[in-house]
This record gives sequence, C-alpha cells and structure tokens, in this order.
Amino acid sequence: MLVGTVFGQSLPLIPKPKSMQAQEGSFAFSATTAIRFDRKLTGEAELLSAQFGSLTGQKTKAVAEELKIMLQSEVALDIDETLPLKAGGYQLSVTPRGIKIIGKDAEGAFWGMQTLMQLLPADLPMKQASAAIPALAISDEPEFGWRGMHLDCGRHFFPIEDLKKFIDQMAFHKLNVFHWHLTEDQGWRIEIKKYPKLTEVGGFRASSPPYGNRNSDDGKRYGGFYTQEQIKDLVAYATKRHVTIVPEIELPGHAAAAIAAYPELGNTDVPGYAPKVMTRWGVHPYTFAPKEETFTFLENVLTEVCELFPSRFIHIGGDEAPKNQWNQSKFAKEVMTREGLKNADELQSYFIGRIEKFLASKKRNLIGWDEIQEGGLPKSATMMVWRDVNWAHHALDKGNTVVMAPNAYAYLDHYQHPASVELAKGAEYEAIGGFLTVEKLYNYDPASIGRNDDERKRILGVQAQLWTEYMKDWKKVEYMAFPRIAALAEIAWLPTAQKNYPDFRARLNGVMKHYDAAGINRATPNDPPKKETKDGSKIETSLNVHDGHAIEFAFDGKAETFFWAARELKKDDHVTLKLASPIAKESTVTVQTGGKASANGDRLEQGNLQSSVDGKEWKNIGNFTEGKASGKIPTGTKAVRILVTAPQKYWLIIHEIVIE
Ligand code: ACM
Repeated sequence: MLVGTVFGQSLPLIPKPKSMQAQEGSFAFSATTAIRFDRKLTGEAELLSAQFGSLTGQKTKAVAEELKIMLQSEVALDIDETLPLKAGGYQLSVTPRGIKIIGKDAEGAFWGMQTLMQLLPADLPMKQASAAIPALAISDEPEFGWRGMHLDCGRHFFPIEDLKKFIDQMAFHKLNVFHWHLTEDQGWRIEIKKYPKLTEVGGFRASSPPYGNRNSDDGKRYGGFYTQEQIKDLVAYATKRHVTIVPEIELPGHAAAAIAAYPELGNTDVPGYAPKVMTRWGVHPYTFAPKEETFTFLENVLTEVCELFPSRFIHIGGDEAPKNQWNQSKFAKEVMTREGLKNADELQSYFIGRIEKFLASKKRNLIGWDEIQEGGLPKSATMMVWRDVNWAHHALDKGNTVVMAPNAYAYLDHYQHPASVELAKGAEYEAIGGFLTVEKLYNYDPASIGRNDDERKRILGVQAQLWTEYMKDWKKVEYMAFPRIAALAEIAWLPTAQKNYPDFRARLNGVMKHYDAAGINRATPNDPPKKETKDGSKIETSLNVHDGHAIEFAFDGKAETFFWAARELKKDDHVTLKLASPIAKESTVTVQTGGKASANGDRLEQGNLQSSVDGKEWKNIGNFTEGKASGKIPTGTKAVRILVTAPQKYWLIIHEIVIE
C-alpha cells in the first residue's frame, strides 16, 4: 500500500520521497528516544539531537555506534556507500522497534534526518507525551544536484541570525545551494580586507525608495555589511547542514557601489561621470572599466572570496550590464580595437573570459546570469537562466551546463496573490510586479528545456530568486519565500513524472504547521478559485474560455474573478444563466463587461440582456451601451441571457452578473 493516507491524511513530506511504502504499526517517539550513530555522522547526530531536544524539551542521548546493542527507543544513523542510490540518497525505515536512517553518504543521512523531522509533529507539547510515527520504508534520492535558493542582500541587508534560520529552513526542504547575492548598485555587503572602502563607502546609501512609491526617496541613510568572521561562521553553519553557499560578486554591471568606493575602477572618461551608491532600484549605467587596474582589483577581491567560500562555483553576476558607458568611453573603445573585439557585447565576453580563467586558476567554476553568453560563452562556464527559458539553448548547444532560474516561474519577488488583494492589506505588501502562485511554480518543469538525455544531464538544477527591493525586513522575506519555497523544493527533488499538485497541496497543509511552529511569517497559498456559481445555478456559453477564466466566474459572487472569452465574438454568441431557483420577487439584473485587457477593454459593444420565465422564450430587458446593461426581471424568472448582436474583433470579459 502506498503511504499518503496514513491516519486518513497525507503525510506532510515535502519534497515527497521518491519511493515510500507503508508498514504495520508505528514507532513511539518520546523524550527517551536516543540516537545511535556511525562516527562519520557525528556532526549530523549532534544536529539531530539538538532538534529532538527542542521538540521534547529534554536533552537527547546520542551514542556512537560501536555499541552494537540497540537502544530501547532509538534512531540509528548509518552510512552505506553501496546503496544503489545517487549521491544524497538515503533509506529511512520506521518500525515499532526503532528508526533507521542509512545514507549513501553523510549528505544522504542528513536528508533522511529531514524526512524524519517532517514526520514528527510540529506543534505537539512533547514533554510527557509520545508521538506515533507510522511504520514505513522510504528509499529516496534527489533528481537534481543544484536545489538552489537565492537571496539578494544588496538591496536590503539581513542579519546573519536570519540567514542561519533560512539555511535551516532550506535544509528542512532538502535545498542545498544558498546563492548569496552580496554586491549591488545599492550596496556592497562583503568585507574585503584589501579594499576597506568597499564596505566603508559602498556598504551605505543615502536613501531608499519607500514602499508605495518606488520613484521617491525616504532620505534615510541605510546600509550594513558582513565581516569575514561572520561569513566564515555562516559558511561553517551551512556546511554542517550540507548547504553550499555560492557567493555572487556582480561584474561588470550592478557595480555602482564598488565604483563609488573606488571611482578609478569605472569608465572615468564618460561625460558626467559621478558614481555614487545608488538610491533607486532598476538598472544603472555604471560598469567596471576594462582596465588592467580593474582586473587586478577583481582578482584580489575574488582571491579573498575563494578563501572564504569553499564552493566549487563562484557566481560573477553578468546580468544587466548596460553598454552605454563602454560605447562612450574612448578607453573602452581602444581596448576593443586592441583585442579585436567587434562590439561592447564582445567586450563583455572578453571581460567574463578573463575572470573565468582567473577562477579556473583557483580551481573554481564560473557561473553567471544568462547574459554571459552575449558575445560568446566561456567553455567551462555554467549559465544561470533567468530570462526566457530558451536562453538555456545557447549554453546547451555549446556543451555548457545550466541552472534554471527563470523569472516567469521562479522569482519570489513577484506577487503570490493578485496585486490588488495584496495592496489592499497595506503598502508594505508591495511587490516588484508579476504573479507567481505556488501552483505555477510547482508546475514548472526544469528538465523540459533539455531536448535529449545529454542536454538533460547538463541541467544541473533549479533555483528560486529573492530579489529584495520590496523586502525591507526579514518578515517580508519570509512572507515572499513561504510557502512557495516548498514547491521549489519538490520540483528540485522529485522527478517530474511523480509530481501531482493536488497531492502536494494536501501535504502543504501539514508542512505549514511546521512553518507556524517555527514562527515563520508565511503567506497563505493562492488556491485557484473554485469553478462554481455562487448558488449552484448553471451557466454556459458558446465562447471558449481564456486561460482558466471559467464561465462560472461570471456568477460566483467574487469581485476578483471574471469570465474571459478566448476569441472574437460572432453574432448570436451567448452567455446563458439558468438560475438554481426561479426569482422570488421582481429584481434588477446588471451586467458590467470589460476590464483593461485591450483597446476596448474587452467589453461587449453590441448585445442584448434577456430574461426568460420558461428557459425557451426570451424577452429583451436591456441593451449594452459602453459595455454595460441592466433591466428588470419579473417574479418567476428562470434564466438570464447575454446575446451578442453584432460581430466584434475584441474578446469579452464579464466580471459578474448581479441580480438584486
Ligand atoms: C536578474 O534578475 N537581473 C538576474
């Protein structure tokens, strides 16, 4: 039997394990449950012991495994490199006698521990109680090696303690890459010993746009940075949790803060050159100049970065580097001539290529946003695809690897509920724009861009982005990250063929209890509105439905939903409402069509509003003018109809048929 309905509900596991079998009985987890571990898993056992302790309120005993005797109530942690699983795979068995987690490697054992933590109750006062964990056998492994979560600490700065919490929460979902965006036009956040002004000057800006008006200034000095000691501490913290921190140092664009600190590194010969740490969001013209002095600077910075971060990958940004300064700079043009570069795109590639060689000398791989291929992609570079997913082909065609991080599916700075719904709660709910529901992220398939097995192998994984222009504090970061992070975790871990949104959505309810117990300021998932009328009335149309905007939404009593026809209108097209029960007293019907979708707003230009007492004979009760019609309907009316009386090239939106 497949688990999924143990105790009548889905086990709250996200990501869902690849293979899971229910068994007889359950294990009684309690404050006396102890941990027995292979010495290679000492660090993991310490973490598990601390987690148990915070659940039970008591110190958990942990003993090394040489003691071959089973403890009375135990969780055993082991490693078996011969397991037929990928790196990071594990087996977890729960029986009435005990729990055993066997990792293919230490990482796998750690992910098995996370599965166990999700099986434990989120909010049970454990001090005296015991929790029944259903007996089961899990065999699990990750689909992708890169299961990434990005965070922009440039636009806003977040304390290390918050980042530690975030790394814990990533690990809880088996996410294993924390992409730490550390430098921006609006702030340089990483201490570099050789260049103290990067943080002294570049770490602070004079002002920021307030929520609610992105084109204005709050006039408040803002900033902060991470010391190298703090960074080492965070890297050690993440490493212990099998999370790799990939640092990002932006070049050649998004570099205004660095150039403000060291103005000689910019294109000093362009008109009006006056670098400063930027105080507005968006893309700014300041780019590093292609000078030897700049390369020396960047190499020195990256040397310190490589000393701090053991990650094989170093992210060098590469996105949104405007070419206007290079095109204006006499010096940059001389470099193009000297190096035989046709244009500024090729200069960007020359720039990236030199950085790639330097990183290679440090045995590191360069990863950058998809613009790094403009003008030619270095051979060993990995492309992080953030614009159209098809940019991936530029890298896959050349044999390079990609990480899929597309803004249409994986940008968590987008709204998760309609903007009007969020903004009604307050200006602090502002997002950059866009609309990304849990379901839309869940339904994204990162592997789908690969056209054959070889290409699919070169898709390293998937990542979601938290750009923080509209996240001034940690509470807002959490609100934007949770619960969408759960959908990311599942698409990164589980093969697409095994995905199932309704099943995921049911499990998410249980996982959200864990978020709540941890005090996370999560959002509620945006569940698609039910396609049903408000009172069981039947509604039908001759028109096709556009993008899920069902005909039922025209009579569901909800302001935020609407019907949207997917094609031009013909004469005699109709929308017909058959009421659940005949009208009890004379009433008025009002229909407002149209929104902001097109030149005419997709409103009905020529049509009749009609009613019927028998559903056969129709009587005109009003005509549409400026998209609106209204009319009286007598007692006993059984049906109302909107009849198109002339063809129109625009589509049709109906917000609501109102009867009152
Ligand atoms: C990006 O969103 N500029 C990578």
